[in-house]
Amino acid sequence: MRSKTLRVMFLGDLAGPPGLAMFERWAPRLKEKHKIDMLVVNGENTAKNGRGISPEIVEQLQAAGAHVITSGNHVWANKKIYSLIDESKVLIRPANYPAGCPGKGYSIVEAGVSGVSVAVVNIQGRVFMHEDLDCPFRTIESLLTFLKSKTKLIFVEFHAEATSEKQAMRFFLDGKVTGLYCSHTHVQTADEMILPSGTSYITDLGFSGARYSALGVQSEIILERFLTQMPVLFKVEKKGPMVMNGIWAEVDVETGKTLHIERVNVIDGELVVE
Ligand SMILES: [Fe+2]
Ligand SMILES: [Fe+2]
Repeated sequence: MRSKTLRVMFLGDLAGPPGLAMFERWAPRLKEKHKIDMLVVNGENTAKNGRGISPEIVEQLQAAGAHVITSGNHVWANKKIYSLIDESKVLIRPANYPAGCPGKGYSIVEAGVSGVSVAVVNIQGRVFMHEDLDCPFRTIESLLTFLKSKTKLIFVEFHAEATSEKQAMRFFLDGKVTGLYCSHTHVQTADEMILPSGTSYITDLGFSGARYSALGVQSEIILERFLTQMPVLFKVEKKGPMVMNGIWAEVDVETGKTLHIERVNVIDGELVVE
């Protein structure tokens, strides 16, 4: 039975060193517990200051079990990844950045015991974000024509701010992809579901990092910004307890539809991050 199904796990944005430490500590355990065949994690905030990702961190995430690393608006913060992202099969950026941007918006990997091909696509929203990006709806529509010739298993991570845009994408992609999981807000939603035509969905995967923080950043800093409207320097919160959020899903390899989806929500009061 298991040979005809595949299990995937998608984890939301890792916020700075605590997010990275949570991934290294918990991803291997969860992978084993749920018998996960393919692990995808959003790495756009993994740098020390929470902005961007370095080539060293890409290697660290791979060593801890990541098959694909997705990203979003913060992926350009560290210029050292510009050349790496061009060649990488592991690190992807939203597909709807204009032509000429380094990197690409999807990766096709072999997963599971029988080495089935799985496509992971990253797209980014425009509402309350970069309005000048190419249309995420048109972009994914044309990409799907190509990806469907390669595999029935297509997963989309939609990095977007507005729930309206995410829910519109939900109706646009139901039955066209295996899973649509959204990221960027760093707050996990409790609406994981299998849609009428078999696509699994969640409005936000959530994040990994300090539980009592403002999306991973020290709360006092963010409060100061709201109270004074002055520019502030973001510092990643390193005090625990820490959390790790995402989903895992079991999918049918023959039909490309989801059979089961479940939220991942780990709380760790013991992890100490220097
Ligand atoms: Fe983020
Ligand atoms: Fe983001």
